[in-house]
Amino acid sequence: MLSFSQCVLQWYDLHQRTFPWRMPSSQPSRPDPYGVWISEMMLQQTQAETVVPYFQAFMQRFPNLSSLAHAAIHDVLLLWQGLGYYRRAHHVHQAAQQMQETGMPCTEADWRRLPGIGPYTAAAISAIAFDQSAVAIDGNIRRILSRHAGLTLEGLSEKHTMERLQHQGKLYLPDQRVGDYTQALMDLGSRVCTPKSPTCALCPVQDTCQYPSIIPHVKKPSVPKPKRYGTVFIVQKDEEYVLLTQQNEHTLLKGLWGFPTTPWTSVAPDPDPLCHLMGIVEHHFTHFSLSLQVMKRETLACEMPMWVPLSQLECYAFSNLMRKVQALAFP
Ligand code: ADE
Repeated sequence: MLSFSQCVLQWYDLHQRTFPWRMPSSQPSRPDPYGVWISEMMLQQTQAETVVPYFQAFMQRFPNLSSLAHAAIHDVLLLWQGLGYYRRAHHVHQAAQQMQETGMPCTEADWRRLPGIGPYTAAAISAIAFDQSAVAIDGNIRRILSRHAGLTLEGLSEKHTMERLQHQGKLYLPDQRVGDYTQALMDLGSRVCTPKSPTCALCPVQDTCQYPSIIPHVKKPSVPKPKRYGTVFIVQKDEEYVLLTQQNEHTLLKGLWGFPTTPWTSVAPDPDPLCHLMGIVEHHFTHFSLSLQVMKRETLACEMPMWVPLSQLECYAFSNLMRKVQALAFP
């Protein structure tokens, strides 16, 4: 009888998704660790299909560690704009500079010491780039392991849950092709062993799985996100220039550029008699929804102002939110 990992690897050879950071199974050489690291940083909190064009553009502009370490942070942010979670861009930049000095790590423990690398990312890089016996546990892999082995994790602390999953993950790990096996589990989790309606009939390990294939689906009531409000100002000079400011160190969007905004609060702002309302932009962040009034104003005092010609707005790294504001103000 084939083992769990043998079944999963056979399935991967037939059904793997093609991504630019992966080596096809027909070409059994190791992928470039630099590319694996960049892809895993981009894949944190982001769907693989969304990452593809960002990864390609990034690798074209910064094909190796040295080009990234010597880049200006603004150029890194330009390529990250739209991908969200911009702290990751700062982390890859800092880590590249650190690795220029120390060399690229080749053990899971050394990857953990770099900025932006948690247990999952360190294990994924070690497995995929170095074929080391590391157990990477993300949401997909956690679901597969716990369903297949019939683990009861309810009521356990996060620490104990992870210990239990690590133990199970090690039992299933193959001796070879750990990188392919890890990515096979990612594909299985996103295509077959999905959270809501898994297609157990297509699963390569259905015969040994402890998870009942017919389960009543209980829909959890969705909890509405907290709402925040703010005002963003469009201030123009001589028709052709608009006022931008750089997001300061303590905001979610640090280092990116945008139109000046008030702080975002839980209370809707009162209408401002000095302004003309151009429209409202709604945006969903992971932990809250934002409603921004877009106001045209004649003048404004703000920190780090910068007058930018309208024709050059694309040269500045903006968040998706600020691109929405731009589209509303300058259709
Ligand atoms: N999510 C995280 N890492 C991934 C990878 N290497 N391939 C596809 N999805 C992923």
